[in-house]
Amino acid sequence: MNLTFKLNTGHSIPLIGFGTYQIRGNHLINETLDYALKAGYRHIDTALVYRNEEHIGKALQTLLPKYNLKREDIFITSKLISQYNKDERFIEELVLKSLDNLQTEYIDLFLIHWPGVNGLQVSHPDNVPYRKKAWKVLCKLHHEGKCRSIGVSNYTVKHIRELLEDCNGVRPAVNQVEWHPHYFQLELLELCKTEGIFLQAYSSLGTSLSTDLRDDPVVGEVAVRLCRSPAQILLRWAIERNVGIIPKARSRDHIEENIALDFEIPPQDMELLDGLRVTSGAKYAWDPDTVV
Ligand SMILES: NC(=O)c1ccc[n+]([C@@H]2O[C@H](COP(=O)([O-])OP(=O)(O)OC[C@H]3O[C@@H](n4cnc5c(N)ncnc54)[C@H](OP(=O)(O)O)[C@@H]3O)[C@@H](O)[C@H]2O)c1
Repeated sequence: MNLTFKLNTGHSIPLIGFGTYQIRGNHLINETLDYALKAGYRHIDTALVYRNEEHIGKALQTLLPKYNLKREDIFITSKLISQYNKDERFIEELVLKSLDNLQTEYIDLFLIHWPGVNGLQVSHPDNVPYRKKAWKVLCKLHHEGKCRSIGVSNYTVKHIRELLEDCNGVRPAVNQVEWHPHYFQLELLELCKTEGIFLQAYSSLGTSLSTDLRDDPVVGEVAVRLCRSPAQILLRWAIERNVGIIPKARSRDHIEENIALDFEIPPQDMELLDGLRVTSGAKYAWDPDTVV
């Protein structure tokens, strides 16, 4: 299934992407990206801290021609964490390093990975000016055409409002956040929709560290009823709200399964899944609520 969403920059983002956190090394990246491109994924999510950009850049040199694809046929996202005590030139160099690693002249989407700043306590007031500084750099690179769209990740309602008040003339195109039936915030989704920001879910399957979400009996019950796997139910649950997904998988079966989402979840099952937030409420990734 290959749905897309038009971002506020006019560029289209595939609703389904391939998450690459913890997939590293030339061999593993080459193998998983080969499965992913073959299965129909056209969107790859990485970050400077995943330390796999170079492997992705290298793999694409051979995999794109293998599948008769050009650079413009795929959508690449990367991210950086703002740095304490560093000037704008340093941040710009980090972004340019990502582009260099990925062997690309431009990136489709570049995100500020986290509202906090590397080298600062989350409660330190200087988080605010430093994340603003990083945004200013992304705006410059956006104007130069090096970052086609720019956005944020792990921004809460508070962080989004702050950015919109002083966004240097470029509104964020995307907010990438933890989002699954055990943990989601409709207030954030509503704000993003109202402000024209595309919400993208990460850890839709509950991360590589826990199987609690994939093993949730209610998810299993819906999966049996709809003749799909629990992972497909979790992924389709986000798509039903036009929320993007970037599931990570190493196994070929998982990679193929996670893009086969051409079915619907009936409203009564959506309600059941929505209800898990109250009964479980489990959060699996880092918590940006603590960042000033
Ligand atoms: N912006 C951020 O702060 C942030 C934070 C976390 C993640 N992310 C992004 O979001 C992506 C996804 O999140 P995530 O890495 O936390 O993991 P996830 O997608 O929630 O879950 C990955 C786990 O699910 C398993 N899996 C995948 N497909 C499956 C299937 N069909 N059936 C059963 N199990 C399946 C994987 O197994 P195998 O690998 O063995 O196949 C792996 O153990 C990341 O890779 C990254 O790109 C962003």
